Amino acid sequence: MAEKFIDITLKIWRQKDAKSAGKMVDYPMKKVSTDSSFLEMLDLLNEDLVNKGEEPVAFDHDCREGICGMCSLFINGEAHGPDRGVTTCQLHMRMFKNGETITIEPFRANAFPLIKDLVTDRGSFDRIIQKGGFVSVNTSGNTQDANALPIPKVDADNAFDAATCIGCGACVATCKNASAMLFVSAKVSQLALLPQGKVEATERVLNMVHQMDMEGFGNCTNTGACEVECPKGISLDNIARMNREYLKASIIAE
Ligand code: SF4
Ligand code: FES
Repeated sequence: MAEKFIDITLKIWRQKDAKSAGKMVDYPMKKVSTDSSFLEMLDLLNEDLVNKGEEPVAFDHDCREGICGMCSLFINGEAHGPDRGVTTCQLHMRMFKNGETITIEPFRANAFPLIKDLVTDRGSFDRIIQKGGFVSVNTSGNTQDANALPIPKVDADNAFDAATCIGCGACVATCKNASAMLFVSAKVSQLALLPQGKVEATERVLNMVHQMDMEGFGNCTNTGACEVECPKGISLDNIARMNREYLKASIIAE
């Protein structure tokens, strides 16, 4: 397909730091290639701002290939923008029309405090992982060959699907309650489904859910918006599995 160019107006949330008031600022851009990625387009904007002696727009990114979960923009009212099954770094300008106004905001949630412009602190996810996102492994030198552990194919497939969660936080930003249930349930499920994860299963689900609540995430009210906006297609089935794991663990722990 031939390369096309579009003129757009960006409306970007600018905020110096957590203590300052923020506001939307307009940035008209001419002749943006529809082949460029969304982040490449922001790179061009920042190059222009730096050349003019202005402060570039701060935004998170790292791998730029849909793996790390760092990119985190709320574009035209949707986490990761209008495309489905992609992260912000995989979004392309061909998804937008000539003359379009594009709003760009940070992921908003009390548990993701704003640092600057479009950058938020998602350390709350790290602290949840630290509470149980690990397994005990025999490192004595007599480690059992992984292939010697029979695992039903359906469990292996479901564990693999849950493991594709990249911890981006789009589920939280999308949820009207800012719930982290989809993220936490993916992490709990990934390990609960496999024999290697059984050792800490009880403590894991209790501790991770407790940390989730401590961080100030909201409750799940089964709206399902998180599943729609998740770039990795993490299923709501994981939330149901985590609820079962939590109930089982609560009874065992009594
Ligand atoms: S569940 Fe989906 S939206 Fe939520 S953190 Fe994982 S990959 Fe991102
Ligand atoms: S920058 Fe790594 S997933 Fe987007």
